[in-house]
Amino acid sequence: MKTIMEVDSVEKSYGSAQVINHCSFRLREGETYGLLGVNGAGKTTLMKLILGLQRMDNGRISILGNAVSRSPEYLCQIGSMIENPVFYEHLNAEELLTMHLSYMGAHANLPEVLGLVGLEHAGKKPVSQYSLGMKQRLAIARAIIHRPRVLLLDEPLNGLDPIAITEMRKLLKKLTREGIAILLSSHIIGEVRHTADRVGILSGGFIKEEFSVEEKAARYGDQFEDYVVAQMISSNQDLC
Ligand SMILES: Nc1ncnc2c1ncn2[C@@H]1O[C@H](COP(=O)(O)OP(=O)(O)OP(=O)(O)O)[C@@H](O)[C@H]1O
Ligand SMILES: [Mg+2]
Repeated sequence: MKTIMEVDSVEKSYGSAQVINHCSFRLREGETYGLLGVNGAGKTTLMKLILGLQRMDNGRISILGNAVSRSPEYLCQIGSMIENPVFYEHLNAEELLTMHLSYMGAHANLPEVLGLVGLEHAGKKPVSQYSLGMKQRLAIARAIIHRPRVLLLDEPLNGLDPIAITEMRKLLKKLTREGIAILLSSHIIGEVRHTADRVGILSGGFIKEEFSVEEKAARYGDQFEDYVVAQMISSNQDLC
């Protein structure tokens, strides 16, 4: 399968604390890669490095052969939802998405995208009047509307109700079928099981374990979550 994104021996320190340490992995076309790690493992930092929001100290990140940069050509290939999404709250969803499309140099059918995330009746409402879950849905719309090749989703289920979670799963599947590659961080192992094709456990600043969800789910069945937790614990203990 074609590699869409490559993270190769990336390093990042904040002051004297090394958060990402010779981290390498690949994201393939049409797959969802679940990034798991305890609080502070470096998941958000890794996503910020991919987006160029933080500068790496060493290593290389590339998307379809283009090295990470702040150029529009590079950034248009990525859709992202990192930590708590921020919006100009006095604007409504239609205005915000139109603004996003304009700086991404892209076109889209707004009602269709709003419908995809279940906001078809809220497009004209100012975001200041949105609930937390509605803001999450809008953030997903903003992340996908310019048709990126890679989607970075940092804890995308925060604030979503069970119906929205089910819809989100379907939406992510649809996007991967269209060829988008998704990097998704989550603390909810059950969710990762439902959405990810492969999982990487980030520990000590690098991907300490990587496995196929289908293979481990077939092997461990109902004990899948126990298996993953055990992997996370042992990854952490190795560092002590
Ligand atoms: N801007 C920053 N300056 C200094 N230290 C930072 C900065 N951002 C993150 N860190 C530190 O880097 C480490 C990794 O943080 P990061 O937010 O990437 O972890 P995470 O895996 O996303 O955690 P969580 O599961 O809580 O979201 C933490 O120890 C954090 O305190
Ligand atoms: Mg985080």
